[in-house]
Amino acid sequence: LPVNTRCKLHVRNFQSPYIVNRTFMLAKEASLADQNTDVRLIGEKLFRGVSAKDQCYLMKQVLQFTLEDVLLPQSDRFQPYMWEVVPFLTKLSNKLSSCHISGDDQNIQKNVRRLKETVKKLGESGEIKAIGELDLLFMSLRNACVGGS
Ligand SMILES: *[C@@H]1O[C@H](CO)[C@@H](O)[C@H](O)[C@H]1NC(C)=O
Repeated sequence: LPVNTRCKLHVRNFQSPYIVNRTFMLAKEASLADQNTDVRLIGEKLFRGVSAKDQCYLMKQVLQFTLEDVLLPQSDRFQPYMWEVVPFLTKLSNKLSSCHISGDDQNIQKNVRRLKETVKKLGESGEIKAIGELDLLFMSLRNACVGGS
């Protein structure tokens, strides 16, 4: 069985009304530009076969990918939200730097890989879609990492 360590965030990280608003506004702006409505990146499939206690580690990887391969290339867009949300998400990512897993994490890697491949295949519109789902990323990260093990 996989064993994870330090995969935890304090609920405080998710409670600033201002940054919640900025994150959701960014997602809203991007989703208006998202033409492809039949693909969902953060949904039931992403968590399939992954037990609740390992979902924070999964979301850590989704967050890292989103920062490096989605938000960085699009960082000039969706201002002023982008320049406020990126440091916030970077801070969360740093807080999860010691979140590791040992043991069988096949399902986690498979699901994360599927998300990455979907974004890459869609190209720029995949990046826009991922930004449009930042509200879902925010909520999934909170659900997975607050109070977990
Ligand atoms: C964010 O705040 C603005 C200004 O106060 C408000 O108009 C908007 O509806 C809020 N958006 C969300 C998603 O909470």
